[in-house]
Amino acid sequence: MMSRRNDQGDAGIRITVVGSGYVGLVAATCFAELGHSVICVDNNQHRIASLQQGNVPIYEDILPELLRKHVGQRLSFSSDLATAVKASAAIFIAVGTPTAEHGEADLSAVQSVIEEIADSMDGYKIIVEKSTVPVQTSDWIASILLRRGISRTCFDVVSNPEFLREGTAITDFMHPDRIIVGTNSNRAWEIMSAIYAPLAEGYYYAAGSSVPGRCSVDQTPSLIRTSPASSELIKHAANAFLAMKISFINSVANLCEAVGADIQEVALGIGTDRRIGKGFLNAGIGYGGSCFPKDVTAFCSVASQFGVDLDLLVQVRQINSQQRERFITKIRSTLGSLRGKRLGVLGLAFKGGTDDVRESPALSIIASLLQDGCTIVAHDPVAITNTQRVLQHQALAYTDDPYSVANQADAILVLTDWQEFTQLDFVEIKRRLKTPIVFDGRNLLNIDTMSTMGFTYLGVGRPLITCPTPHRLQMHSIAAIAS
Ligand code: UDX
Ligand code: UDX
Repeated sequence: MMSRRNDQGDAGIRITVVGSGYVGLVAATCFAELGHSVICVDNNQHRIASLQQGNVPIYEDILPELLRKHVGQRLSFSSDLATAVKASAAIFIAVGTPTAEHGEADLSAVQSVIEEIADSMDGYKIIVEKSTVPVQTSDWIASILLRRGISRTCFDVVSNPEFLREGTAITDFMHPDRIIVGTNSNRAWEIMSAIYAPLAEGYYYAAGSSVPGRCSVDQTPSLIRTSPASSELIKHAANAFLAMKISFINSVANLCEAVGADIQEVALGIGTDRRIGKGFLNAGIGYGGSCFPKDVTAFCSVASQFGVDLDLLVQVRQINSQQRERFITKIRSTLGSLRGKRLGVLGLAFKGGTDDVRESPALSIIASLLQDGCTIVAHDPVAITNTQRVLQHQALAYTDDPYSVANQADAILVLTDWQEFTQLDFVEIKRRLKTPIVFDGRNLLNIDTMSTMGFTYLGVGRPLITCPTPHRLQMHSIAAIAS
């Protein structure tokens, strides 16, 4: 079972991944790419049927190629969890853990999956938490299995958090900074080591067809063994720390606006200190997505259950929501009353590179602006369909053509950091706009180019650029928000 050279015909470890969402589908596909035999199970039969037909349910770079390579070979999809459990040595849980009523993680999906697994256990298996769960969940999972009559010698629960980012999920999985395995069992550690051996020992990177990235045969990711509780905390603490970095830089950006400094320069200056690091210092309209908002809230909640005050993170959340409000205020004070105005929006996804709109700052900003009585035309390269499912309004139209959002608009709003937006022909955009104003909520565009082209440009924490030619803009309002 533990042999290594899976690329030489060995079927690797037999793995079940429960959940075919962003986390589960990517993990299942990547385990197959590492040479293991994988069954990806979901209780959504429609989703499974669609995956079996070769459809790719999410927009994720490299995923379609890897699915084409492995489905029908080492990767299959099923809604029959019992059969998959019996066929597997390791079962990864990747079902959703949304926010419950009081901020804690809702573990009901995890519980029902564990109960179903318990009913199908037929020998020693490891149950691996891939979903983000609160500390001590592994003990809770073990207690469910024991309650359902599974002998303590027949299973181990392992925590193996996933750090992949949507949009770069496959590369993040195959080229991780580290792999965390939280277990007190040597038997479970051996299986987990065998699962990740192609990465940790580097032979995956030697294969000609390996997914390209920063790791190599000589530079392999470390496999870090911890206790289950430490591993569970690592995941929450990592996400909370990154969210804190974003709220920190957003606070400094607000100060930059007040004093006329440029947050891009400040971020470069502090990020080049290796102790701080350059990542996650992009100021803007704040973080969104399926993880940071949920995990920061759940981390606060779990800490308070144990009598520990994580007030710092309460501030992080507050700053994050204020950041959206500040951006909306900036639009209102620049354009005056929004009633009857027309705004063009570039970007709906919670960040570039994905079609995911869960907790997207773009959507909450659009919803607020619509309440002010304006009309909005919005474009996103891939997230329109998902947005239409959750945001319908008679004054909101969607377009596949990024240039159309500018037609007779009073301003353009950049709300997602899609790199393709930087390649747009802004001469053409300016020609179509009623007034050449850009509110860049992601600091995506080049400030000098915008200035040279004659735009009034308002980023986040960047110097205010005003259009040299007079237009209907209320300049006194701009002075007010810059001070
Ligand atoms: C989710 C969480 O957001 C993340 O924090 C966690 O770490 C992993 O799970 P994601 O993959 O984006 O990440 O979730 P989602 O897209 O909701 O997918 C979960 C899948 O699990 C769905 O396809 C759902 O049908 C499936 N599921 C849910 C089951 O198969 N069984 C269940 O009992 C519940
Ligand atoms: C995050 C974590 O990065 C990942 O490790 C974890 O497994 C899941 O949660 P993800 O939600 O896919 O990944 O996206 P991420 O790239 O972290 O961005 C999260 C949000 O923060 C986005 O809305 C993004 O636009 C925002 N962000 C990110 C900033 O506003 N500034 C930054 O500098 C970085």
